[in-house]
Amino acid sequence: MCGIVAYIGKRDAYPILINGLKRLEYRGYDSAGVALLNDNDELNIYKTKGKVSDLESFTNDKDINGHIGIAHTRWATHGEPNDINAHPHISRSGNIALIHNGIIENYLTIKKELQNRGYEFKSSTDTEVLVNLIEDVQLTQKVDLFEATRIALNHVNGAYAIVLIEKGHPDTLIAARKGSPMVIGIGGDEFFIASDATPIVGMTSRVVYIENEEVVKVRLGEELHLKTIDDVEMTPYIQELQLNLESIEKGGFDHFMLKEIYEQPTTVRDTMRGRLHADLGKITLGGIFDYEKKILNARNIIIVACGTSWHAALVGSYLIELYAGIRVKVEYASEFRYRTPVIFPDDVVIAISQSGETADTLAAIEIAKDKGATVLGICNVIGSSISRVTDAGIYTHAGPEIGVASTKAFTAQVAVLTMLAIHIAELNGHLPKSRIMELIHELDLIPQKIQTTLERSDIVKDIAEEMKDCHNAIYLGRLQNYPVALEGALKLKEISYIHAEGYPAAEMKHGPIALIDNDMPVIFIATNKSTYEKVVSNVQEVKARHGKIISVVTEGDILVKEMSDYVIEIPDTECTYAPLLATIPLQLLAYHIAVKRGCNVDQPRNLAKSVTVE
Ligand code: AGP
Ligand code: GLU
Repeated sequence: MCGIVAYIGKRDAYPILINGLKRLEYRGYDSAGVALLNDNDELNIYKTKGKVSDLESFTNDKDINGHIGIAHTRWATHGEPNDINAHPHISRSGNIALIHNGIIENYLTIKKELQNRGYEFKSSTDTEVLVNLIEDVQLTQKVDLFEATRIALNHVNGAYAIVLIEKGHPDTLIAARKGSPMVIGIGGDEFFIASDATPIVGMTSRVVYIENEEVVKVRLGEELHLKTIDDVEMTPYIQELQLNLESIEKGGFDHFMLKEIYEQPTTVRDTMRGRLHADLGKITLGGIFDYEKKILNARNIIIVACGTSWHAALVGSYLIELYAGIRVKVEYASEFRYRTPVIFPDDVVIAISQSGETADTLAAIEIAKDKGATVLGICNVIGSSISRVTDAGIYTHAGPEIGVASTKAFTAQVAVLTMLAIHIAELNGHLPKSRIMELIHELDLIPQKIQTTLERSDIVKDIAEEMKDCHNAIYLGRLQNYPVALEGALKLKEISYIHAEGYPAAEMKHGPIALIDNDMPVIFIATNKSTYEKVVSNVQEVKARHGKIISVVTEGDILVKEMSDYVIEIPDTECTYAPLLATIPLQLLAYHIAVKRGCNVDQPRNLAKSVTVE
């Protein structure tokens, strides 16, 4: 959510900032802006509602010189998306410019205090309050900007990643963070600051992740000067960046989402690489090795997540209970954090997050930690906040997911949870060794079966043509295919703006059946063997009411196929692995419908890739 880029060095800052903002576009935003300090010490600020390309057009005839600058894509929280509320914001004297990601919760109190002392505000943002608070501290306490920022942040509640530049200081950037992510790239004689590493890729591979409540002075010709806001000196930990340019570009596909859907045979293989040993019939999960005992003795496993990651969690709960016999609860992180959940010190909480930055999931982790539970993470972004605040974890290794609608991260999360469920069963003996061998061998075949599923999905375009003008859709599935139904419906809603609902198939009779007529497409995920006859009955119920039936079935299916208007066949597999295959055509269906409706697939309206505010 929102993007921050800053540069200082010998090169022209503007193109670096704009390219950086473009790489962060996937995070979702509504306006963009840039501030540059030119060689005459003039601070030029340009900002506009809309896309980064609108900002570029706006700056066409403007002075964009300067070797230091800050740039921002805003996702409005305080005040509507317009030119005035866009960042950077400037202090009263006009000397300091600030960009900010996050929310200053006590901004109104601070604003009133400053107004009482004669400050006036042009925007409705919390950010303009912050830049003035910092300048006020600087002037009243006669300290430099680094110190003023540190002191001011002690008066602030909420979340922030901020970068500041100041007139008269063309060699210095000041930055700080709490809650919202921030990384610094260290080049030869230049520095980059960004919300994540994507703008830095190809510039330098040496990076420092700023920790919560740290302030940093980035000065040309000097080492990074890092402090906590409590004034404790910190030593920067320089890491090697593990991200390449190819992995953040479209690679010949029309959209990132399509590229990411087609990457899944590879990404699921990457998720299992070095962990699933089909030849030995064994699974090793190095990241949680030291916590295996805790898991085996867990009273409950509680999985917290949001959105698509929550759907993966639901699939995981079926698998862990079935294979390992441990009780699993799945919670929306946003509900969990506010409803005084009962957590025991011998519970294991697993937080699942693609971005590793979701504010609600981070808050849920804090609660679990306070109650003494062991907290594990399943994250995609390496070095993300959740991966750092959890006791241990398992990375999904799906590579950067740029499309706002999550696809490959979901299958990677399900692959991790499947390995975890089998591994616990291996350790606690809940399944016989021979069954574990079977499960491992079949899991090893899944990447190939995803490939086959993709190759067989041509029919999806015809279904998309049929569905593109509908207003509603229902997705139905049982057991582990119920979360697949939820995920299919979410994908459709997110990128095509068609209203869709997912239900456990049998729940249809308890209400949604009232909606069914010949205008209602009903998508059945009908691959389960154990409940197959039940699903056949549900299909009949829809058919009797003239609903349009689209079904995802296992190859060789006869009954459901006969009753369906459209059929997508997936390869035969363990019924518990069906989500890894059945989700793929539903991702493609949402994609093709959205394209046919002319929607912005990679950056759907109102959505952000990483939801770093509540
Ligand atoms: C997925 O398509 C969504 N955009 C969204 O539901 C997402 O899964 C959710 O915000 C959680 O994100 P996370 O996995 O990065 O925590
Ligand atoms: N709260 C700030 C605003 O509304 C920052 C939003 C963001 O993170 O982009 O301007």
